[in-house]
Parts: sequence; C-alpha cells; structure tokens
Amino acid sequence: MSGFPILRMRRLRRTPALRRLVQETHLAPSQLVWPLFVCHGEGVRREVAALPGVHQTSVDELVKDAARGAQLGLGGIILFGLPAAKDATGSEAYDEQGIVQQAIRAVKRAAPGLLVIGDVCLCEYTDHGHCGVISDGDVENDASVHLLGKVAVTQARAGVDLVAPSDMMDGRVSGIRKALDAAGFTHLPILSYAAKFASAFYGPFREAAGSTPQFGDRQTYQMQVTNGDEALREIRLDVEEGADLIMVKPALPCLDIIRRAREEFGAPLAAYQVSGEYAMIKAAAARGMLDETRAMWETLYAIRRAGADIILTYFAPVVGELL
Ligand code: PBG
Repeated sequence: MSGFPILRMRRLRRTPALRRLVQETHLAPSQLVWPLFVCHGEGVRREVAALPGVHQTSVDELVKDAARGAQLGLGGIILFGLPAAKDATGSEAYDEQGIVQQAIRAVKRAAPGLLVIGDVCLCEYTDHGHCGVISDGDVENDASVHLLGKVAVTQARAGVDLVAPSDMMDGRVSGIRKALDAAGFTHLPILSYAAKFASAFYGPFREAAGSTPQFGDRQTYQMQVTNGDEALREIRLDVEEGADLIMVKPALPCLDIIRRAREEFGAPLAAYQVSGEYAMIKAAAARGMLDETRAMWETLYAIRRAGADIILTYFAPVVGELL
C-alpha cells in the first residue's frame, strides 16, 4: 500500500509553508565567493561588456566592493589581476608590488574579516595569454610550476587567506605547498581548481581578465569535456598533493563530476559557476527569453544539490542581497 491513492506527492507541495518545510537544499551567503577583477589606476570602475554587472575596478573601488561583500556575509572574494604590462613569464603575477598583491593588502586593511582568495595563474600576466611559460610552442610544465609557487608566496606575504591555483599544470599543488612551507606559510590553505575543463564557457572571463591565448588553446593542460573518470583522477592527485579544498569548473556542465567528487572525497568541495554560465542567463533575460532571478536560483540550487559546498559566482552580491 505504498502508492497512489494513499500516497499523493502533491500534498507536500500545496502551500508555501509546506514547501518551505520540505526544502532539501539551502543556500547561505557564507557559501558564496564573489570573483572580482582589479586593475591599476584610481577611480576606475569599467563594466565588462560581456558580463553585465561585473566590473574591472582599481584598488580604491575594489575596496568598496569588498566592504559590501563583508557586509553581506559572503564566504569571500577571489581576486583576478590586470597587470600594467604583460611579458613572456607573466612577471607581475609574482611581483611584491603587483596589482593583486596591492589589492590583497588594501582589502585586508579595510575588511580584515573578509576571506580573500588569490587566483594563482599566469594567463592574465603573460603576453601570449597562456597559463605558464612557453617553450617549443607549448606550455612548459615544471618551469611554470616554479613560477606559480612564487605567485602564491607573494600573495601570502601580502596577507591572502587562501590561494587557488587555476592553471592545471601537473604537480602544481605540491609545488605551491612546498614553496609556501619554505616561506613560512605552512598554515595557508590551498583551494585547487582540481578538475578544470577546457570550456567554451570561459569566453567572457577572457574579456574581463584580458587573458585570451594569442595562439592555440588550452587543451594541452585543461581537461577535455568528454572525460569524467579522468576528472576524478585529477581531483585525487590534487588531494594527495595536499589540496585542502577542491574545485570543479565549470559548474552546470559538470554536475555529474560534482556529485562524484562529493561522494568520493571528504575535502570541502567548490564549484565555479563561470562567466559563460552567468552571461548566458543575463543575455537570455535581457532578450526576455527567461526570468533572470528564477534562472539564477535554479542553477545555484542545482549546483548545491549536486554536492558543492561552496559556489564561486558572479551572482554572489545579488544573491547575498536577496538571502
Ligand atoms: C585562469 C582562469 C580562467 C577562469 C578562472 N581562472 C580562464 C581560463 O582558464 O581560460 C575562468 C573563470 C570564468 O570563466 O568565469 N586560468
């Protein structure tokens, strides 16, 4: 006697109060991380054409966003830098006076309680736009890992709370861990972009961060989207190398990976709702094709339901206001 007419699933959907009572998945501001883009100058607040509501800001303006994030109780912010000049090795990324290092110091001074994550990568800083140094037309793994260690250490010296390598070089988590430990930062955790796919959905980010590869693409280091088992191997390796938190990216196209990572690993799990996922909703809503707010909630709950503890999303301040 388990089925209809004894059991009627609609009984628990009849009123908002009942639906609220049986809601399985919840979102709190503390689970959201807001990606921010910082550039040189003063009083700069430039909207990114492909990402309505997302801006490139100078440090003085960034501090205002950070204060807003703190006030909303967000889990944190993650910083991406636009350097004054790009070169072959992306040297501003590991300059003590680099734009992100300056931003970290300023934000920690203005909002000491707000968690600041440093994205550790070279692609915004290299003149060729790749995530490491080039030799023989491809990204050289170990030399790039060495530089990524320097990026992490300079961010640590500036006061960052968490470093997040997004480059997908082999061995970068252990390389960064060793560099941090040697510099006295044994306490600083690493959030690894552990399973990062070569995704079309990063398109708008590359406009925001000025990081479009000048030749080729990222397929020799980011994962091909056809592979789920390989994603699990990537995550396992990063956990073994000492990643404290792990990330799957992009989010909505990878709900299966998020679920598998949730079930397989105990580490706190983040998912990045990337620029293209955000832009897609914004663009469709602007043309009256769907309801932006409802699409936003639905995607974020889907990512949580798949198993993510933490979501990096450009919607973070909007959601923070609504929660
Ligand atoms: C840098 C990096 C990228 C993103 C985060 N870190 C771009 C890329 O790999 O091309 C994408 C984030 C987004 O699309 O919102 N390696």
